[in-house]
Amino acid sequence: MSPEAERRGRVLSGIQPTGELHMGNWFGAVQNWIRLSESYDCFYAIVDYHAITASYDPATFPAAVEGMAVSLLAAGLDPEKCHLFLQSEVPEHTELGWILTSLAPLGQLQRMTQFKDKSGDQGEAITAGLLMYPVQQAADILLYKADRVPVGEDQVQHLELARTLARRFNNAFGETFPEPQPLLTEAKRILGLDGQSKMSKSKNNHIGILDDPETIREKMATAFTDPQRLRRTDPGRPWVCNVFTWHKLLSDPATIERVDRECRSAVLGCYDDKMMMADILSETFRPMRERAAELRARPERLREILAAGAEAAGAVARETMREVHEAMGLWQTKRSPATA
Ligand code: TYM
Repeated sequence: MSPEAERRGRVLSGIQPTGELHMGNWFGAVQNWIRLSESYDCFYAIVDYHAITASYDPATFPAAVEGMAVSLLAAGLDPEKCHLFLQSEVPEHTELGWILTSLAPLGQLQRMTQFKDKSGDQGEAITAGLLMYPVQQAADILLYKADRVPVGEDQVQHLELARTLARRFNNAFGETFPEPQPLLTEAKRILGLDGQSKMSKSKNNHIGILDDPETIREKMATAFTDPQRLRRTDPGRPWVCNVFTWHKLLSDPATIERVDRECRSAVLGCYDDKMMMADILSETFRPMRERAAELRARPERLREILAAGAEAAGAVARETMREVHEAMGLWQTKRSPATA
């Protein structure tokens, strides 16, 4: 690490190429990505190699990857202040992934909540890729010797494994990797429109940051509020309402106080509140929709940004792998002279 980078500290995070950023990604992680870019040496990967652990369509995959890059830049990630790149363009990710696989405790992998959720009832048909997913994630982080990892709450367990693997490597081969710590936002787990499960594109319970105002209104109309408020005249309970938690993130203090009061006294109905929230979301995300349209009109600029990101990431990754090979006693004809 350059002395400058060492002083500032390294940040790495990643996101799956789902085609668009949703509110959960934005409030749970990407806001922090942008904030940290101001003062740290930041690397952000669109993790296409992670995405192939689930079934996907090769025909639409490039558009999904491109859509995520557009979303991130439109959301405010500044390529002058951080490095945005595609994971598969830096092959050292999978190289370190294999090395860490040889140190990874199988039991800890089998106990991962996300692995259990995603494997469902597939039994022995489950792929090894899904099981090894968090090891590859650890490699993404350790490759950059990142000590800070801005993520949502659902990734905290994966970071625990990254720390285990850093420790195991350091114990076996000498101090090489720092132990990475998760950085959470205040909105570390945004619930979806169903008000019950984590917002995610695969559950189709999300609001995309690039959704147009009409789509946001349609989606908000289906949002769950207080399940006990059956009639318009029933007093509401904002403290159990998911839409109210969004007010707390997005509205000014006077609006929060008014919604709270008028919901409890049944002056404000759930539907009207949801449409108010639809307008707030549309306005909040308006600059992002505008920037996305500009970016889409200049695909060559997008390529340049990602290529420059991969180059910067590759330089750090190659240096780490050189150290790793040396520490592990892997003799490489190109890297060190033969001894003995
Ligand atoms: P992914 O693509 O599912 O999500 C990207 C980031 O968004 C956060 N997030 C949320 N935060 C709050 N509420 C939600 N509803 C919500 N949904 C998503 C996630 O916590 C994450 O920070 N395994 C990772 C990708 C990854 C990675 C890495 C992350 C691969 N390598 C290295 C950090 C470091 C994932 O699938 O995130």
